[in-house]
Amino acid sequence: MKNGFLVFLVSLVVLGGSWCGFVLAPVLQLGGQKQTTILNSSDLYPVGRPGMANQGLQVYRANGCAACHTEQVQQDGVACDVVLTSAGKTPLAVTNAISSLKLTGLDKGTADAAVDKINAAGGKAEIHITATGPDISRGWGLRHSVAEDFLYDDPVQLGSVRIGPDLADVGTRRPDANWQLLHLYAPQSVVNGSAMPPFRYLFRVQKIGGEPSPDALNLPKAFTPPAGYEVVPTAQAEELAAYLLSLQADVPLHDAPFTQPLAVSKP
Ligand code: HEC
Repeated sequence: MKNGFLVFLVSLVVLGGSWCGFVLAPVLQLGGQKQTTILNSSDLYPVGRPGMANQGLQVYRANGCAACHTEQVQQDGVACDVVLTSAGKTPLAVTNAISSLKLTGLDKGTADAAVDKINAAGGKAEIHITATGPDISRGWGLRHSVAEDFLYDDPVQLGSVRIGPDLADVGTRRPDANWQLLHLYAPQSVVNGSAMPPFRYLFRVQKIGGEPSPDALNLPKAFTPPAGYEVVPTAQAEELAAYLLSLQADVPLHDAPFTQPLAVSKP
């Protein structure tokens, strides 16, 4: 072939270029990712999933949950609210300053300027940050997902299809392991008309011998097994429920700040 060497050279540059773009660049960018600290605190984030939850990640993967669920909350931006914390010794001047200002739904620059004006009038104010966007308003999380959220996950289960809700923060939203088990065994027993398929093979239907098992599911009437039988979760179901409870992306970070609402603030 006359141009053999040229073809080889062009292929090398093209393939090498895409390897650098798709493999090398992400590794350089995120490969050395470390724990970070929670905003305004010295606590480290994240702190690995407990053993059972870690095994649950493998059950999640093996059952293809990521075919219908994502674990990545997205965010369009932030809205800042200016909150007066003290009117100081010149309340009239502070009231006058406030009356000419817009205090909610601001961008960071305008909010900073409003705080400066209130401070200049002798009062004290602080900025409360709320993340905004369709995922946030659906209640799927308080902030967008960041690389640290997945630091200890192998493999990461980002998912790309949303037939069901995003699960990045489902442990905060549904913190009850029994609810999770009932939902896995019979989604419609806890969510009316649920379109999620049941995962019955993660449970055993067994004859009650003497005392009923303390782990037996407390199912609503329409879903109970025949008289004399009970439904108990297998180890895999317990692990999966532990994993779902461990999905909590509810702390503010430097690259994803928000002001914690009092109801979910951690001690
Ligand atoms: C065929 C698609 C599909 C698959 C596969 C699927 N789900 Fe779902 N899932 C849904 C739908 C639809 C909903 C919403 C209705 C509901 O809450 O039951 C849902 C809801 C959920 C919820 C409740 C979320 C909330 O915000 O209340 C959890 C938890 C959940 N799924 C976990 C799982 C797990 C774990 C697996 C794998 C074992 C799985 N799902 C597999 C479709 C699916």
